[in-house]
Amino acid sequence: MANRDTVLEALGGVLEPTLGKTLAELGLIRDIVVREASVSLTAALHPDSMEQTGRLEREMAAALSEIGVKEPHFRFRTMTDHETAEIAKKLQQPATAAEERPPAQAAPIKGHGAGLEANSLLHPDSGVEFIAIASGKGGVGKSTVTVNLAAALARRGKKVGLIDADIYGFSVPDMMGIEDRPEQVGDKIVPVERYGVKVISMGFFVQDNSPIVWRGPMLGKMLRNFFAEIEWGELDYLLLDLPPGTGDVALDVHQMIPQSKEIIVTTPHATAAFVAARAGAMAIKTNHEILGVVENMAYYECSGCGKRDYVFGRGGGGKLAETLHTDLLAQFPLGAPDNHPSEPDFSPSVYKADTATGQAYLALADEVIRRCGK
Ligand SMILES: Nc1ncnc2c1ncn2[C@@H]1O[C@H](COP(=O)(O)OP(=O)(O)O)[C@@H](O)[C@H]1O
Ligand SMILES: [Mg+2]
Repeated sequence: MANRDTVLEALGGVLEPTLGKTLAELGLIRDIVVREASVSLTAALHPDSMEQTGRLEREMAAALSEIGVKEPHFRFRTMTDHETAEIAKKLQQPATAAEERPPAQAAPIKGHGAGLEANSLLHPDSGVEFIAIASGKGGVGKSTVTVNLAAALARRGKKVGLIDADIYGFSVPDMMGIEDRPEQVGDKIVPVERYGVKVISMGFFVQDNSPIVWRGPMLGKMLRNFFAEIEWGELDYLLLDLPPGTGDVALDVHQMIPQSKEIIVTTPHATAAFVAARAGAMAIKTNHEILGVVENMAYYECSGCGKRDYVFGRGGGGKLAETLHTDLLAQFPLGAPDNHPSEPDFSPSVYKADTATGQAYLALADEVIRRCGK
């Protein structure tokens, strides 16, 4: 089966049409994702080369078919300013010096990732506080709570990472208004930063929102990659937006990160809370500390008179907390953020710090910080 290295090797002869050197030596082949017999990758090109993507596509497809890749997917984009600067540097170096140096891309890696063992983030002494956000079913606002808690922790000055581990149902990039894709630096991928939160999501590696049809073991492998191959730098907190329910991926995460703590999200409806109890039971069974319960869509507050209507029922969060012998940490009202797409840092789902719900998320962040002691 193909892997990153064999793909790079197979494409070794493909020239960047304008620069006259191979894409591989210029480091312009990026975001290589191999699944089963299919390979997808991005080629960054000189602007003048963009009209030759058809020819390049055929050349690369032919090269990859030599190693058995039948369904290659290529994305083409122009080089970023950063890439242009790196390449300009590279082209100025005499060839021999270039060979002696470590790979040119290794230098900009910041933080403690380089040199440590690959999974150091998962090492119990890493000092990173893992918090998995779980729910019994989808649609209760688990992702909304995750992105807003992450933003609130960052607003409190914490170094925060977020893994969108809902591999089939990823939504974090869209919810946070992320349009960039992570850059690859050397053999690591740099998360996209938004509202001070470093984000990684399956959504970054999927083309055109196409459905993912991997089998179970691949999912666990992907998750492991999210830890091992991502350049997280220094982190205080790493939040995980789990898939809903108690399926394979949720179990994988529990087993992969025994030290992770957990927040369970529910709506106030009795049935939702009952279903959420199963996610809580899974956390307890796998010896994960439950930090508490968050009730989302708890009530609707009339903007005119301030009266609260409990449109989805009442008491589910409190009841769930009781069942799980933990506390109800927060109740968030119904109401999407009043953000406008024309704002420079627009996101559909992150409440601004100076709104009532934004303040409530800051209070949740303070409580989490208190409970985690860091
Ligand atoms: N408090 C809320 N008020 C209004 N809409 C909400 C609230 N929380 C979540 N939503 C919306 O409900 C839908 C489901 O939320 P999401 O966070 O994606 O849930 P999950 O991750 O549990 O599936 C989304 O469209 C989201 O914008
Ligand atoms: Mg979700």
